[in-house]
Amino acid sequence: MADIRIQDLETDHLPAARKLVKRVFPWQSPIERLSFYAIAHRRSSLMRRIMALVGVDEILNFWIALDNVSERVLGTTGLYAYTRDATDAVWLAWFCVAPEARRKGLGSRLLDFSIVEAQKTGRRYLRLYTSDDQREAAAQQLYDSRGLRIVGKKRRWFHTEIYRELPLDSKGA
Ligand SMILES: CC(C)(COP(=O)(O)OP(=O)(O)OC[C@H]1O[C@@H](n2cnc3c(N)ncnc32)[C@H](O)[C@@H]1OP(=O)(O)O)[C@@H](O)C(=O)NCCC(=O)NCCS
Repeated sequence: MADIRIQDLETDHLPAARKLVKRVFPWQSPIERLSFYAIAHRRSSLMRRIMALVGVDEILNFWIALDNVSERVLGTTGLYAYTRDATDAVWLAWFCVAPEARRKGLGSRLLDFSIVEAQKTGRRYLRLYTSDDQREAAAQQLYDSRGLRIVGKKRRWFHTEIYRELPLDSKGA
């Protein structure tokens, strides 16, 4: 774990980050995929307009966890804001750890990092949606342990979407 650093995603690591999220989230919808493309072009005004059409106000930042020795991308996390609650909340995006790097504390480190970054935005809540899919089961325990409580559920065709929220003002940055 000491040999891993978290840094902003820049273009040189984009292909590796994209490969990792494709491997971990093979079931994502085209719009969710588009959101990953938008991360790479988050400063482009055209991309901002496209994301506005799907309700995204702003992609705040996106980070990767890099192995200091091999320079491999081992994890990703990001924060974005929806138009509907942009003044109140930031949302967690593309939070994952490569299967071969799991259960060593990296997921916890990335989530704690994301919470601190969310606090820095001055918003009141960190929100996210996840699901009851067994591929996201490990994340539920981690979210519970960080106080990201369940605030809603939505039945979809093949799974139930789970909405979670953490009040940010209750935790010191
Ligand atoms: C969730 C995820 C990021 C955790 O990464 P990780 O590096 O293994 O996390 P950690 O080693 O810090 O473990 C943190 C906690 O997660 C839970 N956890 C991790 N793996 C687990 C598993 N296989 N089964 C049950 N709980 C698990 C445990 O509560 C663990 O705490 P503990 O080690 O004290 O028991 C990783 O499993 C992952 O990428 N999953 C697929 C993507 C995903 O579901 N992302 C969230 C989408 S909303």
